[in-house]
Amino acid sequence: MDGEVLVQAAKNVNYLQWCCGIDQSEHVIESAQQKVSEAGVSRKVRFVKGDVLNEECLLKVKKQMNIMGFKPAQLVSSMLFILHDLERPAAEKLLLNHKKYFGNTPLIIAEVFSIPLSVLCAYPNYRPASFQFIHEISGQHLFTKREFHGFLIRCGYRILQEQIHSSIPGLKAGEHLDTIATYVVMPSKIS
Ligand SMILES: C[S@@+](CC[C@H](N)C(=O)[O-])C[C@H]1O[C@@H](n2cnc3c(N)ncnc32)[C@H](O)[C@@H]1O
Repeated sequence: MDGEVLVQAAKNVNYLQWCCGIDQSEHVIESAQQKVSEAGVSRKVRFVKGDVLNEECLLKVKKQMNIMGFKPAQLVSSMLFILHDLERPAAEKLLLNHKKYFGNTPLIIAEVFSIPLSVLCAYPNYRPASFQFIHEISGQHLFTKREFHGFLIRCGYRILQEQIHSSIPGLKAGEHLDTIATYVVMPSKIS
């Protein structure tokens, strides 16, 4: 969380009354607080420092939400380019805990997808080759798009909307492989 999304949301989405940014790094929180303050939107933004894999951290956010008088139906959550940062079992735990604590809150997820090496080799000058290299050397494992959809379904979510931001040509004529997308998802079973 670098604070930019919070600034844009707090400034530009009029009906949004309150935003909460979560990060485990003190340094990241401080720098995001600075951005939010410089943008003049501190009144609308709170921060929680903690590990999202720790249920205590989600409980802290939920408590903040209760103090402000919000109900789950008035909330939207986001996980932007974070799920691939986590080991798969941890990413699964996060999605399951999100359902547990925030129920039917719509969840916005942005992800960057893994592309087969044969395609990256065919188009070395496209950015996905460098994205993938950077993620691999830092020990993060990108999902393929197909894996990601399967992962969401296994965690009990359904996709309401998909917005593709960029694609790379495939090896077959007319084929396109999506590299970055944003989803709006909800739990499959309404509780
Ligand atoms: C790839 S960035 C995510 C991008 C971010 N969504 C944004 O809008 O800037 C990774 C960030 O997630 C934080 N992070 C990684 N694992 C975390 C965890 N388990 N709990 C909380 N924050 C975490 C890191 O400290 C880092 O600031």
